[in-house]
Amino acid sequence: MKKKMNLNIIDKKQIPQSESERQYYFMDIAKEYVSQLAAQKGSALTFHVTTFGCQMNARDSEKLVGILERIGYVETETEEADFVIYNTCTVRENANNKVYGRLGALCNYKKKNQYMLIGLCGCMMQEPAVVEKLKESYRFVDLIFGTHNIYKFAELIVTALESDSMTIDIWKDTEQIVEDLPVERKYAFKSGVNIMFGCNNFCSYCIVPYVRGRERSREPKEIIREIENLVADGVVEVMLLGQNVNSYGKNLEEPMTFAELLAEIEKIEGLERIRFMTSHPKDLSDELIEVMKHSRKICRHLHLPLQSGSSRILAAMNRRYDKEHYLALVEKLRASVPDIALTTDIIVGFPGETEEDFEETLDVVRKVRYDSAFTFIYSKRTGTPAASREDQVPEEIIKERFDRLLAEVQQIAAEKAGKLTGQVQPVLIEEINAQDDGLVTGRLSNNSVVHLPGTAELIGKIVDVRLKECRGFYYLGELEK
Ligand code: SAH
Ligand code: SF4
Ligand code: F3S
Repeated sequence: MKKKMNLNIIDKKQIPQSESERQYYFMDIAKEYVSQLAAQKGSALTFHVTTFGCQMNARDSEKLVGILERIGYVETETEEADFVIYNTCTVRENANNKVYGRLGALCNYKKKNQYMLIGLCGCMMQEPAVVEKLKESYRFVDLIFGTHNIYKFAELIVTALESDSMTIDIWKDTEQIVEDLPVERKYAFKSGVNIMFGCNNFCSYCIVPYVRGRERSREPKEIIREIENLVADGVVEVMLLGQNVNSYGKNLEEPMTFAELLAEIEKIEGLERIRFMTSHPKDLSDELIEVMKHSRKICRHLHLPLQSGSSRILAAMNRRYDKEHYLALVEKLRASVPDIALTTDIIVGFPGETEEDFEETLDVVRKVRYDSAFTFIYSKRTGTPAASREDQVPEEIIKERFDRLLAEVQQIAAEKAGKLTGQVQPVLIEEINAQDDGLVTGRLSNNSVVHLPGTAELIGKIVDVRLKECRGFYYLGELEK
């Protein structure tokens, strides 16, 4: 679009003081603009949000969608839309490369569509070098914002619609948590819920603390209120989100532990399942294990990132636990919650990692026997302490270790899959099976996937399913009458 919109309808005196009311004010303005543009175009304006990265970003994208729908954009499946937004991730180099790769295609769509806007947000935008590169070589992008001001999306859309050039708004950090903005959930029956933002841990390889800012916990009453509203709206399962949920509440005016928060959430009537992510081993308390042991709602699954099995490497990673502590934690967890499924993240090839260090990682993998594990090749992130180390491990060595680790992890996961065969277990039915529409797909409390004959009416319900057989990593089952 050459000259965009300016109806001069913003009345500075009318802009409300409170941040959330202010954003609703801008949603009304944006709505007016979108309706005018749609009238010009002769059809509704469409949008597509593409999400990269973790569950935090997925939840943020639901907030973007909530605002876009409220101002009159209609969601479409393809990126040939009137507004395309990439919510980016920068945790590993290949996450960045994907975004640059796809921007070329977007530029071609834009040449054919005068109404098209391109927006970029999320973690990658918090890196100054990225924004410089976009300013230089990707001038066709209309709107760039970061992780701290995502709540200002409505206001930023108005600015972008009124401007001829790139709108850029990146903040270094924020203390703000803005509540009560619109959200459009991807699933009717389950939802992510942010309990905290940011991270204070500064693991030496990780860029997240630099792009997500300092740790801030939401007030427990806000979290409870949000979950109560979700439940009233049909949600039965929540996933509590934070980079380190085990340190929840430390900086609140009235401090509260994560275990205490869980105990409060457990009391919410109508809520059936509670999941959370991610647990840092250094902060996993006995109190939490005790709460998990007695809970009827907390799912029998814990994601407990190991990163490395070598105490020497863990120290260099600034993880603040060692191999023995991690193994002792796993033992305690299994003693209290015997049927718990454990999953993990592991990085191969951290600077200075020797064959002996790597053997330690394999040793932990064999001892813990994870139900599944995400394995990553170390990626150098500029600005992190590990990136400036001179003892980077050669690529061929990393690749060879990575393959060995993957083989081990998959072998164990295959042996562990199917351990519940023959049992009847509650399953939350999530969707019609993508391959066979006579089947539905759901998840057990331990996060295993089950396919069974059924119809769309079952979606969102928790039903008893007999697990008849295990094929690879999933079960085939049938409804228990
Ligand atoms: N807060 C979570 C992790 C968030 S990032 C935690 O502490 O566990 C998700 C995963 O990406 C990490 O667990 C780690 O295994 C991986 N990761 C992070 N930085 C990385 C890097 N520079 N190279 C490779 N993997 C990385
Ligand atoms: Fe990154 Fe460590 Fe924070 Fe996780 S805890 S986000 S790995 S710095
Ligand atoms: Fe990626 Fe940001 Fe999540 S860097 S992993 S999207 S917090």
